[in-house]
Amino acid sequence: MSGLLENTSTRAIGADIGRVDGPAKVTGTATYAFEHQLNAPAYLHPIQATVVRGRVREFDTRDAEAVPGVLTVLTHDNAARLADIGDAELAVLQSDEVAHRGQVIGAVLAETPEAARQAVRLVRVHYEERSHDVRFSAARTDLYTPGEAEDDEQGDLAGAMASAPVTVDHTYTTPMEHNNPMEPHSTIAVWEDAGLTLYESTQGVHSVRSTMAELFGLDPERVRVIAPHVGGGFGSKGPLHPPVVLAALAARLLPGRPVKLALTRQQMFDLVGYRSPTIQRVRLAAEPDGRLTGIGIDVTAQTARFKEFLEQAGKPTEVMYAAPNRRITHRLAALDVAPPTWMRAPGECPGMFGPEVAMDELAVACGVDPVELRVRNEPGTEPASGRPFSSRNLVACLREGARRFGWQDRDPEPRRRMEDGWLVGTGVAASTYPTGQMPGSVAAVRFEDGHYHVRIGAADIGTGAWTVLTQIAADALGVPVTAVRLRIGDSSLPSASLAGGSTGTVSWGSTIVAAAQAFRERHGTAPADGAEARAGLPDNPNRERYAMHAFGAQFAEVRVHADTGEVRVPRLLGVFAAGRIVNPRTARSQFIGGMTMGLSMALHEDSVVDPRFGCVVNHDLAEYHIAANADVVDLQAHWIDEADPYVNPLGAKGIGEIGIVGTAAAIVNAAYHATGVRVRELPMTLEHFL
Ligand code: MOS
Repeated sequence: MSGLLENTSTRAIGADIGRVDGPAKVTGTATYAFEHQLNAPAYLHPIQATVVRGRVREFDTRDAEAVPGVLTVLTHDNAARLADIGDAELAVLQSDEVAHRGQVIGAVLAETPEAARQAVRLVRVHYEERSHDVRFSAARTDLYTPGEAEDDEQGDLAGAMASAPVTVDHTYTTPMEHNNPMEPHSTIAVWEDAGLTLYESTQGVHSVRSTMAELFGLDPERVRVIAPHVGGGFGSKGPLHPPVVLAALAARLLPGRPVKLALTRQQMFDLVGYRSPTIQRVRLAAEPDGRLTGIGIDVTAQTARFKEFLEQAGKPTEVMYAAPNRRITHRLAALDVAPPTWMRAPGECPGMFGPEVAMDELAVACGVDPVELRVRNEPGTEPASGRPFSSRNLVACLREGARRFGWQDRDPEPRRRMEDGWLVGTGVAASTYPTGQMPGSVAAVRFEDGHYHVRIGAADIGTGAWTVLTQIAADALGVPVTAVRLRIGDSSLPSASLAGGSTGTVSWGSTIVAAAQAFRERHGTAPADGAEARAGLPDNPNRERYAMHAFGAQFAEVRVHADTGEVRVPRLLGVFAAGRIVNPRTARSQFIGGMTMGLSMALHEDSVVDPRFGCVVNHDLAEYHIAANADVVDLQAHWIDEADPYVNPLGAKGIGEIGIVGTAAAIVNAAYHATGVRVRELPMTLEHFL
């Protein structure tokens, strides 16, 4: 594949350009899903199951229907029948079965949100309750191997463990965690003769369109999904969840009238997925100098009994370190719970916690510096596949991070530094995330009124897509950014893949490059008004030949109060090798956003399930703690120049997720250095040090 936009000067890519949607956002005029002004909307509030498992015998809705302003109570009795698309989570109100507590079993439609909410409280539901089981444990006897992750074994890990002079064999755990984007999931659904219009908070308008069209048996052309601005998603707005289906079912009962649904923060903990808890047995076998002879991870995760989702936490162990003996396994516990889903860096984020803490334990056991230990175990090719890396600069990230962080003066002995009653330590961990590309995008370029109008149904979930796609289009056309008018966030635009797997910028950007090239070939540099061209995302044959990943190094300073166990993280510093950086300002926000979420994971986030009630009991931001400004002191993200000619025409790798990967391990490793106490479970709270 040719290098970056070879025939044009690259003026906009790499420039520190402020968000093109920034003024609209800070003036409150950027329209989020719930804010679209439509005539005479009705409001929807879900009815949620208060048993964990069973079936609804009967609804008593008399009191609810007597509330002034109530229009309709929606249940499985009057909901439209949906097509079976093989996704039980989306079969909303299709039967009387209850598969998890909090499941949507109905909804009230009313003239005001207050009336809808009050009426829901007055609905009496009689259940036939069955016994339930929500206990997550690696000791369960009914764990199974999911079809998408067969055991992966190279060599003989058990043999390596038995004969190695140094071994590490510990179990690490990460808890259930919930996505809490600033904007809760919300929908406005309008059902008219022409079809269904959805104003939706989503990571992908076209995937919403195709899924909803299938469910409701409509031609996709009759479904329109609009999402110009989205207040975060982190994966929870990638796959569809029940609320959007519920809103469309309700809108069908009120043809012509917009139906508005905004989840409460508490409903977010029941209805839009979460990160599965993981239990990770990590085994490392090594020579005395730290060179690995074996590496293994056995992952246990949970899924819903009625819908399978696998948190692929073993994945990064395929990529990270050289070792002749390797074993990666996944087991699932199927429970009476809501289905887990994507949460920022699914797989890699929890899956780099156990192994990167274990590497720190190995460094201690061998008396080798933890930066040096990782350098010693650099593979020449991708360990599990044997393919060459398109580029791999983990060592450069570790070296550059060590230099910037001031690692060279570190006394490796734990519990040596005490300042004003605080034990102080530093730690490091590596980071990685695959460089993907999603198929299916098309972009159009049209010249009109002196501007290049670039259209693609991409989603900006707060990442900066509005801005970076404008930059990419400008360079691909060889014009200033001011000559480009971008349109995204609407399924009436050419089809776009999802904002997920850190693939948005590279998939849409490469598509825009192809469309710009097609435009220039056809119309030259002085196009007539109305000149137009479009192109789809070209195949990249290099994807078969090379292993493509971004890498990073995370450094942390941690203070643990010697008397109270209170933990503080005064410094976090990440250095990333993520290919070409399209916009340093929005990229930095992505990296530090990920690192902040990693800090949050390290110290706070923990969804607590009460096995008696089968639900998360700390289901709001008062009790489910996330990092706040006071947690973040000195947070730095840097990157190294990385030219990768193989990944895509931009030479860019995804950056939305790598920032969270490895952060929690670096913090836990720093806490060990501070205190001599090895924490192997998250979150790392003060009781670990008392
Ligand atoms: Mo991201 S968790 O792949 O949407």
